[in-house]
Amino acid sequence: MKKGFFITLEGGDGCGKSTQCKMLLDFLKQNNINFIMTREPGGSEAAEEIRNIILSGNKEKWDSISETLLFSAARRSHLVDKIWPAIEQGKWVISDRFADSTMAYQGYGRGDGLLTKNDIETLYKLVAGDFKPDLTIILDMEPKEALQRVAQRGAKDRMEGMDLSFHYNLRNAFLDIAKKEPTRCAVINANQDPVNVHNDIIKVIQERLLKC
Ligand code: TMP
Repeated sequence: MKKGFFITLEGGDGCGKSTQCKMLLDFLKQNNINFIMTREPGGSEAAEEIRNIILSGNKEKWDSISETLLFSAARRSHLVDKIWPAIEQGKWVISDRFADSTMAYQGYGRGDGLLTKNDIETLYKLVAGDFKPDLTIILDMEPKEALQRVAQRGAKDRMEGMDLSFHYNLRNAFLDIAKKEPTRCAVINANQDPVNVHNDIIKVIQERLLKC
């Protein structure tokens, strides 16, 4: 059986990822594509438990090492229990965030000097081996505007409570990741009407995955 594709959506807080995941879900349904939609941190039962532990509480709760270990444990469970079996069954797997978020948030964003980017790559290899997404959509926008959207939404989680410089680091991190892996990553301007963002995403999927 032909394996399914693994697509991840990434970006800073407030970039519109959840809206785009919903629009993508409708597109996949309309096109009769067999898929599952999932998210990180979380996605499997055990990983959702870890999600609650990581995202609640004050922003000093974990340092970058503890945080990365928790995200990695959740990712391992998500891969083993959900992502890999679905791909083997020929399903497309769409994940709202994946490993680039760890590199961006814990590697570049936190900047507490406890963890190198190499450490994060090593940990990823342990968790996932050579497995990588077939396509990563990076939703890019000015952090100030993105955080205004978050403020309108109401309560902030631990990451959203970080200061503005943290969010500028994040944006640079995602752009850096895309520059290093242009075949896997596509940067989409998220500061436009959601329908236009959706159309840009579909164009990339058609060009990179469906034409092969
Ligand atoms: P969400 O708001 O997109 O559901 O993501 C939850 C938060 O977790 C978000 O602020 C990004 C953060 N995060 C990390 O810091 N590292 C990671 O590896 C992942 C997957 C998410």
